Amino acid sequence: MKTQFADKLITWQRQHGRHHLPWQTQDPYGVWLSEIMLQQTQVATVLDYYPKFINHFPTVHDLAAAEQDSVLQLWAGLGYYSRARNLHKAAQQIVNEFDGKFPHSRNELEKLCGVGRSTAAAIAAFAFQQRETILDGNVKRVLCRVFGLDGDPSDKKFETQLWAHAEELLPKNQSDMPSYTQGLMDLGATVCKRSKPDCPSCPMSADCVAYAENRIAELPRKKSA
Ligand code: ADE
Repeated sequence: MKTQFADKLITWQRQHGRHHLPWQTQDPYGVWLSEIMLQQTQVATVLDYYPKFINHFPTVHDLAAAEQDSVLQLWAGLGYYSRARNLHKAAQQIVNEFDGKFPHSRNELEKLCGVGRSTAAAIAAFAFQQRETILDGNVKRVLCRVFGLDGDPSDKKFETQLWAHAEELLPKNQSDMPSYTQGLMDLGATVCKRSKPDCPSCPMSADCVAYAENRIAELPRKKSA
């Protein structure tokens, strides 16, 4: 199953995934901005804010040169304002430390304020077709169910295992990375939902351990107190 996971996901994404989100671009600035907004805010809300923000600050240089207050004003309504302050700082890092260009590697991207491993991987995969895996709550849920992994996802050791497992699943061809990464996000958001997953529509149902064993409601395991 590990070997077919990427192919099945990519085929499914191309037929049934989301294709017209405004941040589906190869421009690292747009990808980065959208990923920061999407860290703690739903797609429907980000669809309202992203175009306004990018029209006001069309490039990383515009954002870096802005007053912090004007950044916070455009962020108003998205909440978690530390994201906006980090966004502004990261734009200045790009201009001052990276010669105005986003680095291509996940490792370098993680040096930006507000960019953790999964966000760095998303930027590397979408903008630069790097073989790096995302791993957010939705992806953890998909992996725990499909592969029947029953650790506690908030446990550090289990999380390390999930990263390793996710890396083994990556497609061989770099050019498939955007579809694959979007497929992970789309499957978790639209099919393998936390409650009432739509298993009959899932490209993985024939291989899914949780589905076969009727353990969908049990996986991923809840945090142990
Ligand atoms: N959630 C996080 N990143 C996303 C993306 N690029 N598209 C849709 N939902 C997301």
